[in-house]
Amino acid sequence: MPVTNKKNIKKSNTIKLKFDTGWSYAPAPESKSSASFNKQYDLFINGEWVNPLSHKYFDTINPANEEKLAEVAEANAADVDRAVKAARNAYEKVWKKMPAKERAKYIFRIARMIQERAREFAIIESMDGGKPIRESRDFDIPTAANHFFYYAGWADKLEYAFPNRNSNSLGVAGQIIPWNFPMLMAAWKIAPALATGNTVVLKPAETTPLTAMKLAEVIRESGLPEGVVNIVSGGGATGAAIVNHPDINKIAFTGSTEVGKLIQRAVAGTNKKVTLELGGKAANIIFEDAPIDQAVEGVINGVYFNQGHVCCAGSRLYVQESVAKELIRKLRDRIETLIVGDPLDKNTDIGAINSRQQLDTIHKYLKIGKDEGYQMYESSCSLPAKGYWCRPTIFTDVAQSARIAQEEIFGPVLAILTFRTDDEVIQKANNTPYGLSAGVWTDKGSKIFNMTKRMRAGVIWANTFNKFDPTSPFGGYKESGYGREGGLHGLLPYVNLSN
Ligand code: NAI
Ligand code: MG
Repeated sequence: MPVTNKKNIKKSNTIKLKFDTGWSYAPAPESKSSASFNKQYDLFINGEWVNPLSHKYFDTINPANEEKLAEVAEANAADVDRAVKAARNAYEKVWKKMPAKERAKYIFRIARMIQERAREFAIIESMDGGKPIRESRDFDIPTAANHFFYYAGWADKLEYAFPNRNSNSLGVAGQIIPWNFPMLMAAWKIAPALATGNTVVLKPAETTPLTAMKLAEVIRESGLPEGVVNIVSGGGATGAAIVNHPDINKIAFTGSTEVGKLIQRAVAGTNKKVTLELGGKAANIIFEDAPIDQAVEGVINGVYFNQGHVCCAGSRLYVQESVAKELIRKLRDRIETLIVGDPLDKNTDIGAINSRQQLDTIHKYLKIGKDEGYQMYESSCSLPAKGYWCRPTIFTDVAQSARIAQEEIFGPVLAILTFRTDDEVIQKANNTPYGLSAGVWTDKGSKIFNMTKRMRAGVIWANTFNKFDPTSPFGGYKESGYGREGGLHGLLPYVNLSN
């Protein structure tokens, strides 16, 4: 077991951990040769690549080295209008009339094609967004394919999803997605919309458009009728043009609570249906009877997974006082072993922070945590010279009122708080404007049920963390948004039910 090198403990409240592991992994980079993408992408409208009416393009870069990967079109309101018209036309003339079992075949085919190209998708996802190849390869892309498979299965079984009710599609869905799980979020949005008979205008995030462009290629090759899925790249203004378009029937958004609130205001008084999946500040609760070593792994997975760019990250850790010392020691040892670096290296645990802007946000919170006087530990790992990087970091003895315990940081930063009793920790865990996810670690089944019943969060993991499955619904309480994605519940936001 590595030992702390006391020389590295500074006088300030920042402690740099230093362990002598005595050995390290040889680099094992994934080859880029099996991934190809264009230098420039236009807009995918009505089954074709079309030049943007805006005449504008913007760069997407690799956050691990700041190199430009490609440029993509920036859709303006006229481009969005063109996409919505294509989606409306496809809806009225083709998609809503098509027998459900035929629709299912297309969705199934898209799933198969994603599987066949999984390696290429994974590499591009890691290059464009900075996440470790291990995650894009083993989690993002397979789970995206699984979402298409899962909803392909529902397409012709909606009468069983909603027994004794008629379900009618809504029309055109406008879908806006973030940069933390670009391909997976596209699948979460597109698959249930198609299965229920809607057509789509989707906007990927401005820092991670490339897998959406590859998905457009797959959709085109799948033979999906033209206009059923349209993909328009751009930033906030493009997103706002989708939200404000009068001929859109439903908005599905995943992103910041701030933009979620703007969207809610923009659609108030219209007939648009809305689902919002926003931020979170998940409480992960460890009781003294929990299996500590497993809990340490769960915490690591819960907060450092995907650089902490996870709305359901377990970034608020509540540890029962009697085991706090032991747990903190083990966590400090463990973060020191995490490998930070090249996202394409198969050994990498923590890749690049998605953008300069997000890195600035994380640094702002590190400063706030230090200024508020909390003890900060960070891994001693060295960081590459170019690109956006952040060492895995822990704050201990954090107060419930601390900003780092209340606000979403969206980076590899953990705030540790302690508690004594069940009632105390429930009160503290629920004392947040968010309510997306949570975790409980204990040896006792009855305690799990007792706690989960009282916690206000959409998803609660017990003795594990960050587990996803297409069959299981996901979504939040309070400022974490409303509506559910995934599972049977994920069909509901895309239909009107009647008797
Ligand atoms: P954001 O909410 O601005 O971006 C998400 C998506 O919304 C992007 O596609 C963006 O282009 C689009 N968008 C931006 N402004 C819009 C508008 N006015 N109307 C319609 N669409 C708009 O999030 P951002 O700025 O990238 O990240 C800020 C913070 O938000 C992060 O630090 C994190 O705390 C949180 N966040 C939460 C996510 C989640 O999964 N719940 C995902 C991304 C960010
Ligand atoms: Mg990028």
